[in-house]
Amino acid sequence: MAFGARDPNLFSLFLLSLLAITSAKVFFEERFDDGWESRWVTSDWKKDENVAGEWNYTAGKWHGDPNDKGIQTSEDYRFYAISAEFPEFSNKDKVLVFQFSVKHEQKLDCGGGYMKLLSAGIDQKKFGGDTPYSIMFGPDICGYSTKKVHAILHYNETNHLIKKDVPCETDQLSHVYTFILKPDASYSILIDNVEKQSGSVYSDWSLLPPKKIKDPEAKKPEDWDDKEYIPDPEDKKPEGYDDIPKEIPDADAKKPEDWDDEEDGEWTAPTIANPEYKGPWKPKKIKNPNYKGKWKAPMIDNPEFKDDPNLYVYPNLKYVGIELWQVKSGTLFDNVLITDDPEYAKQLAEETWGKHKDVEKKAFDEAEKKREEEEAKDDPIDSDAEDGDDDADDDAGEDSDADAKLEESTDSAETKEEDKHDEL
Ligand SMILES: *[C@@H]1O[C@H](CO)[C@@H](O)[C@H](O)[C@H]1NC(C)=O
Ligand SMILES: *[C@@H]1O[C@H](CO)[C@@H](O)[C@H](O)[C@H]1NC(C)=O
Repeated sequence: MAFGARDPNLFSLFLLSLLAITSAKVFFEERFDDGWESRWVTSDWKKDENVAGEWNYTAGKWHGDPNDKGIQTSEDYRFYAISAEFPEFSNKDKVLVFQFSVKHEQKLDCGGGYMKLLSAGIDQKKFGGDTPYSIMFGPDICGYSTKKVHAILHYNETNHLIKKDVPCETDQLSHVYTFILKPDASYSILIDNVEKQSGSVYSDWSLLPPKKIKDPEAKKPEDWDDKEYIPDPEDKKPEGYDDIPKEIPDADAKKPEDWDDEEDGEWTAPTIANPEYKGPWKPKKIKNPNYKGKWKAPMIDNPEFKDDPNLYVYPNLKYVGIELWQVKSGTLFDNVLITDDPEYAKQLAEETWGKHKDVEKKAFDEAEKKREEEEAKDDPIDSDAEDGDDDADDDAGEDSDADAKLEESTDSAETKEEDKHDEL
């Protein structure tokens, strides 16, 4: 690297980046190889109600490598909760990278594919929907309107949803979701190693009260003219304007042959709307030369705002978990990673998802083709109708209620979690 010798700044930058790579710390990495069961604890949550679903250890129906397995939800209408422990750490002054891959083989109608980071103090055997978590991250799909990446941060005893919209993948293939949180409270969200959203925790979540607020004391000055248009003082009502009648006799009307003036009274033609009549006179409008724009209260520092330099800090991270309700099973998780090094995460995604994605896509296309052929064989006349038959019931329920779907999209994940509990 010739530039290094010439430019001491660049050279030290180069050394620094080398250092950064070599000092990458991996807090947790799970590729679901043999022995994964000893690292993960299936919760007893919902077991006594017989609605706890079983995980299937599999590469799925289509994959890049049959030996590269993950864990997949395998029963419909079930709750799933599983978690793994890692040595407790704090992300203070560190970059935090949370990454995993997820594949919805079932053509997900309504359900999540997210994971949670949890802090010390939970009971893994009781891990469930009500267990407090620190970060929840990953895709969530419901109907046509909710197709988003959740990024929920727990702060000050409350779960806060990201305010920006981050669309998620909706196909039936594997995708890698990455959440990066940095000590300057900036963050980014990647899907398949491509950044989809980034910004500051300060502005994209409402963890703290806003820094600036409208001055509540400020008042619009009396003489503030905020009318953009005014009646033209020069405009005058044309002479005779008010004499134009609203209705006029219908010139085409004829007195009926059998009209008897004595019995029926004097015949008058029926009236019709006068095309000349333009309504009451109004002067035309012109731009107000004194228009000052809409009045806005000046922004002032919010007295309620107190900065928290540890806004991004989770001092006792200790578990990673999956907690889901699935109407239709088939969601497969793999390659869970928690590290302080985005480069390492990127490499891992390339080595796993990146290496396999083309073969997986090909296998999926073949499986689809086979499915379509078989369906056409079953019912050669009406193969189209047969197509989505599997999900006809679920679809009908959802599609018929566009409002519910709209609501769903504005719902918080918490509400949805409550809903899912109520559903049974
Ligand atoms: C597990 O997944 C494989 C591959 O999709 C499938 O063949 C098998 O039937 C599944 N097992 C269970 C118990 O769902
Ligand atoms: C925490 O939340 C409570 C209740 O909403 C609020 O009064 C308090 O100001 C919050 N503290 C911080 C540091 O944001």
